[in-house]
Amino acid sequence: MKEETVVTPYGSEAGKKAQVEQMFDRIAPRYDLLNRVLSLGVDVWWRKRAIGYLKPAQPAEILDVATGTADVAILMAKILKPQHVVGIDIANLMLELGRKKIAEEGFADIINLETGDCEQLRFDDASFDAVTVAFGVRNFENLEKGLAEMHRVLRPGGRVVILEFSKPHIFPIKQLYNAYFKYVLPLIGRLTSRDMRAYTYLFESVQVFPEGNQFTEILTKTGFQDPLCERLTLGICSIYTATKQ
Ligand SMILES: C[S@@+](CC[C@H](N)C(=O)[O-])C[C@H]1O[C@@H](n2cnc3c(N)ncnc32)[C@H](O)[C@@H]1O
Repeated sequence: MKEETVVTPYGSEAGKKAQVEQMFDRIAPRYDLLNRVLSLGVDVWWRKRAIGYLKPAQPAEILDVATGTADVAILMAKILKPQHVVGIDIANLMLELGRKKIAEEGFADIINLETGDCEQLRFDDASFDAVTVAFGVRNFENLEKGLAEMHRVLRPGGRVVILEFSKPHIFPIKQLYNAYFKYVLPLIGRLTSRDMRAYTYLFESVQVFPEGNQFTEILTKTGFQDPLCERLTLGICSIYTATKQ
């Protein structure tokens, strides 16, 4: 049997979840700025494109897992006009910054952020019309447990939308992108986020994370139906979506 490679932020004794929480709390103050700069602003387009998959269903109750600083939750409130969005995350400093942004944007009545672990959601079965995760699943300690929980809280007929990094495969994009992602991006990250490992972990975690068919197979295994994958920007990022029957 193939052994799964576990990449963690600090390679310490602590479990992946504790290390991920520590890392995001550390980089929280610079997280949004670095996202915009390092992706050259493209991440906003990726998020909007992912949210577009929910437009036809017009979900009223949405759960945004690993919501971080609430970028996707806020964009969904603007674009989809749901009744409620609940955002959960294990990193409290990310959530604090998210709450500030929500108040500034005037969405405090619609979006609620709370501390929560994707592997143990506190919500009843079939509570949400849609569940989203942007750049979160790669950081889960137990991917299948997290996805199975998302499936449990989704109502039958509901849709999951997942945005995650993948890897470009075409020459010379692959080589150029890898050089940027492996060397330039961690250097900028180290200088600005004050965390020596965060942006090296980003590169390493993307290298071992399942993509394309491998990921859609995991969606099926965890209970989802009709999984689809759309590769964006030459494969740098992918949207995965599926339904619950
Ligand atoms: C790269 S950030 C993404 C944040 C946000 N979704 C975005 O698009 O900017 C990943 C987030 O996943 C969260 N996370 C990791 N493991 C988690 C878990 N088990 N349960 C909930 N959130 C988790 C981290 O704390 C972090 O805020």
